[in-house]
Amino acid sequence: MSIQWYPGHMAKAKRQMIEKIKQIDVVIELVDSRVPMSSRNPLVDEIASGKPRLLLMNKIDMADRRATKAWQNYFEDHGLKVHLVNSQTGQGVSMIPEAVRQLTAARRKKLEDKGFRPHADRALILGIPNVGKSTLINRLAGKRIAKIGDRPGVTTAQQWIKVGKTMELLDTPGILWPKFDDPQVGLRLAATGAIKEELLDFQEIAFFLIKTMLVHYREAFAKRFQLADLPELDGVDDQDLIVKVFDQIGKKRGCLMSGGIINYDRVSELIIRDFRGQKIGPLTLEWP
Ligand code: G4P
Repeated sequence: MSIQWYPGHMAKAKRQMIEKIKQIDVVIELVDSRVPMSSRNPLVDEIASGKPRLLLMNKIDMADRRATKAWQNYFEDHGLKVHLVNSQTGQGVSMIPEAVRQLTAARRKKLEDKGFRPHADRALILGIPNVGKSTLINRLAGKRIAKIGDRPGVTTAQQWIKVGKTMELLDTPGILWPKFDDPQVGLRLAATGAIKEELLDFQEIAFFLIKTMLVHYREAFAKRFQLADLPELDGVDDQDLIVKVFDQIGKKRGCLMSGGIINYDRVSELIIRDFRGQKIGPLTLEWP
């Protein structure tokens, strides 16, 4: 679900998050592997400051494996502990309590040295809308927790969910707003559905997707839309070349208005739907 965020919402969400984080030992930041950088809100650095952090790259089934590996290396090089998961099938999810455990080793040791018995590792899942927070919480809980709406600033009663013997998870995630001052980030987020496409032009999103396909996923793209001769982008005539691809797809798929004019809105919808529905293949929209 994508909603509009206003300054008041953001300020309130931030305050609530800072309060929530006081109660926890580890921040689990969730990102969409198709857009691992764009689906982060840089504010997480400020909010989570001082707490150990686990970065989970979710939806690995939807992303290009090579790109996911490259991103994992990139984030690890930047000092983050990274784990790959598919919250829908549960792949990688059982590793989470152990990864969290490792991150709290120092805290537990300190408590034990003082003669205290440390409590279970308390974790919070945090991320922008649509990265899979609810799906992951349900997975970890082993049952369906009511869908937590991405309603900025709405306070709901929260509970701890026991995950295995060593971890406790807050049942309500921390929801950060998608940050897209950079138009490219906006396009990537809109393509994945993390922000309303109405905020951007439908055709612009499809244009961006075609361009990405022509640079990185030529074979899969040509196969899906049965395109015989894909143009090579040269940085000069890209606009015209991409419009020609729109035309080819429009004709092939019968997205035509009266008089045989291409209906670019329909072509755009088709391309965005196929991308989201993984009809073209597992794809990533940005690289480190
Ligand atoms: P949020 O709480 O962060 O907003 O995200 P949510 O869990 O609602 O997930 C957003 C969409 O992403 C859902 O699809 C969900 O099923 C899907 N999803 C979450 N994790 C994964 C994953 O690892 N792989 C894949 N392929 N999909 C994932 P939806 O179509 O919006 O809803 P639904 O009908 O599938 O529930």
